This record gives sequence, C-alpha cells and structure tokens, in this order.
Amino acid sequence: MRKKASLVTGANGEVGHGLIRQLHEAGDKLPVIALDINQVDDEIANLVDDVVIGDILDTALLDKLMSEYEIDTIYHLAALLSTRAEFTPEAAHRVNVQGTINLLHVAIEQARWRGQPVKFLFPSSIAVFGMPDLDAKMDAPPVGEDDYITPITMYGCNKVYCEHLGRYYNSHYRQLAQSQDPHGIDFRCVRYPGLISAVTLPSGGTSDYGPEMIHAAAKNEPYQAFVRPDTIIPFMAMPDAIKALMLLKEAPETSLTRRVYNITSFSLSAEQIAERVKAAFPQAQIGYEPSPGRQKIVDSWPARLDDSAARADWGWSSDFDADAAFNDYLFPAIRQRYQAQ
Ligand code: SER
Repeated sequence: MRKKASLVTGANGEVGHGLIRQLHEAGDKLPVIALDINQVDDEIANLVDDVVIGDILDTALLDKLMSEYEIDTIYHLAALLSTRAEFTPEAAHRVNVQGTINLLHVAIEQARWRGQPVKFLFPSSIAVFGMPDLDAKMDAPPVGEDDYITPITMYGCNKVYCEHLGRYYNSHYRQLAQSQDPHGIDFRCVRYPGLISAVTLPSGGTSDYGPEMIHAAAKNEPYQAFVRPDTIIPFMAMPDAIKALMLLKEAPETSLTRRVYNITSFSLSAEQIAERVKAAFPQAQIGYEPSPGRQKIVDSWPARLDDSAARADWGWSSDFDADAAFNDYLFPAIRQRYQAQ
C-alpha cells in the first residue's frame, strides 16, 4: 500500500520553509515529502517525513514518487523568480511551465488512481501584472484579478500561463474524451505580493530589495537598494503568506468563485521601508543605486491590489499590517536570528 502524503516542491525556498514549519506546528495529519533541487536545510529536513533532492523536470523521479506515495495535496512552490528568470528565459520557462505541467500531471494521475481529487496549491505573483507606465501605476485604484494582465517578465508570463493551466486541468482536462472522469484536480492559487520573511532571504526576485534592506541592517551591513526611493509595491509578511495558502486550501469548494485570487497586506515605498528599518536599527546605512532593468520590472507591478474576492470567498484577512509586520514580526525575529549567530 502506498502511504498518503503531501508533496511540497521548492521545499527549501522561503515559502517552503514557512509552509513546512506551519504544517508541522499545526500537526498536519499527512506525512510531508519535501522535494527540492538543492539540499534541504536541516531545520526543515527534520520536520518532514521524506526529503527528495531532484529536479521537477525529471519525470522518472516524479514517477517514482507516485509509485511510493498516494499524493493527496501538492504545494507546487518551485520556480525561478523574476530577476533570475531574465538571465536564462528559456530555462526559466522549462522550470516554471514544464515543471508545473509535470506536477499537474502527477496530480491528475493520482486523482484517477485514488478516485478522489488532489488539491493543488499554487503561488502566483504580482508579476502577472504589467502596468503600462508609472503614471498609470500611481493613479490606478487597487488592481483586480483581471486587470492589466500584460506581464513584462518571463516569470510573470510563466505564472499567468500556469494559472490558466491550473484552471484547464481543474475544469477542462481532456474535455473531448468519451467518458469524463469526475476525479481531477482541485486547483487553487494565490497571487502573492512581495514576501518578507524573518527567517530566510529570497533569491533571484525583484522585490528582494525589501527583505534585503532589513536583513542587511540587522547584520550591520551597508545596503544599496536597486530601486528608487519612491518605488512602491505591495508586500506581505511570511506568516500571512502561509496563512493565506492554508485558508484557501481549507475553503469549501462551493465558496470559491474563482481559482486565482489576489491577496495583499500593505503597500510601502522603498523609502518608507528604509525609514522603518532606520528607526529600528539606527546604525543602518541604506542608499539607492537603481538598476534600470530591475527598476523597470518593479515599476510594471501595481502599487496596490484589490483582494476583495479572497476576503469574500474564503475569509482572507491579513494579520500583519505594516506596523505589526515590522514591529511584532520582522524586527524582533531578525534581531534574534543574527544575534544568535
Ligand atoms: N517576489 C517575486 C519576485 O520578485 C515576485 O513574485 O520575483
């Protein structure tokens, strides 16, 4: 008999860290398999039942997983983020799109074997949006799910397409087949704003100036932000990001009016983040050296998001506004982290 389990791809990434801790703390009943292309940090490896080091493009590896486990829920977090993806766009496409199809295939196969849907949780991103110019960005009301879907990055294009693939596998997979199998994928997706964790730093993202500024100050290192001080996008503290994923996972299917939801916590400019950081770490040295390419990417992302659908459908609300995120979560935890080192 195969053992029932949850699969987390990109387990060693920053959402992976937060999610695996949360599944452990919540006493989640299902064993967790952590899959990552890199070694998984010990603190995470110790919280899961199996660690698999490998590539989501390796279908033989995924087949082996399916032969060993009955996969009940997939948290497909693995991706190349927006900055990194621009250096190798075709490779990013393979990981972000073909990798996602491979996991959707695992889900649909598993669902058929067990005669029950497989839940597929997928993080999308503010990178799916493409504001036409800075004036439009600053003047726009909070942007809804279906507005401005004209991404300018490979990562953003990949995320939009994977949202559509999820909807397709959820509702239209093999729609011309003679017999329709009722057991498929229950695909659910949140679009994250820039995420900030006290525990990990992102790698290869374009919203990274936010978390990098805070971590550098706590380590007493100077930091040059790669954007202008007036650059504004929405951000979210990691516990809220994990809470959203869990709330969406648990929501009754009948309450969902869509498969892809915007979520947001607070919008701050780089300068507003720097002011908060300097108030907490008076020795912080923060400057600005905007990189034209990365600036253009962040300028194409909305300043504010409309997350009213998530609020109405599955009771989303953020626990951490800007004050709580910085004063109650980020600053104390980051201080402790670097003091302990
Ligand atoms: N934080 C991501 C990035 O910067 C956006 O989803 O790429």
